[in-house]
Amino acid sequence: MRNTTPYIAFLIIIMLAACKHDIINNQNTISADTTVVVAPPVNGGTGPSTAPAVSDTVCFNTDILPLYVSYCGSSGCHDVNTHKEGVITTDYTHIMNGIKAKNSSSSKYYTIIVGGSMPPRNSPQMTTANIAMIKKWIDQGALNTQCTNVCDTTAFTYAGAIQTIISNNCGGCHGTKPGTANVYLGDYASTKTYITANTTIFLNAITWTSATPAMNMPQSSKMVACKITQIQKWIKAGYPQ
Ligand code: HEC
Repeated sequence: MRNTTPYIAFLIIIMLAACKHDIINNQNTISADTTVVVAPPVNGGTGPSTAPAVSDTVCFNTDILPLYVSYCGSSGCHDVNTHKEGVITTDYTHIMNGIKAKNSSSSKYYTIIVGGSMPPRNSPQMTTANIAMIKKWIDQGALNTQCTNVCDTTAFTYAGAIQTIISNNCGGCHGTKPGTANVYLGDYASTKTYITANTTIFLNAITWTSATPAMNMPQSSKMVACKITQIQKWIKAGYPQ
């Protein structure tokens, strides 16, 4: 039998090249310079050959992981150190323990959110759009899609970009009062007031340049660079609404 490895490798390279510079829908952000890399799946996820059309791909690293980190993976809950009930939701492999690719109704880490028992009632809740995004990701095969440059960095008003970024990435810990470590980022005025009084701490936190790693935010997964850029531009421009 002929060795097909070189052909398969060639095919994958062609596919990755085809993904580059395509337009992708990511929450409210669209970019003409998006790179999508589909990493090998686990636990029944399908391979790159059945990856969905790039224009509609849910990016695991920017759309899904931040939700599980923020709303489920806080310290004391489902982070690596605490892992309540054996559940860890701060990386792809562990999240896949509760996900069945293309079958959201059999995916425990989805149904438990839809059913309303997680996150606990007194904790910040995901939005309907967040939950729909998780379902879409599962329906697409629950791939470990890694996307970069998924933002329109010319968009940095609060309503047009920043609110969603902060809600998705920080909301699970800082979205309801008083907020973890007394940092509440759940609305425009409070966010502006906090950052104005703590600009350096805030910027160091989101750029992962804090003096202590525990103060880098979100703690278990740094935001993609273009989202950090959007927040930096928003602050520099005087917090446009
Ligand atoms: C999974 C929970 C979690 C998420 C998500 C999270 N934080 Fe935090 N945040 C914490 C904890 C815990 C602390 C206290 C850290 C410490 O003092 O060691 C904290 C502290 C902070 C502080 C204060 C640091 C200080 O020294 O006072 C800022 C600012 C902050 N977070 C911003 C953010 C921003 C911005 C995001 C989103 C981009 C975010 N956090 C996401 C849990 C979280």
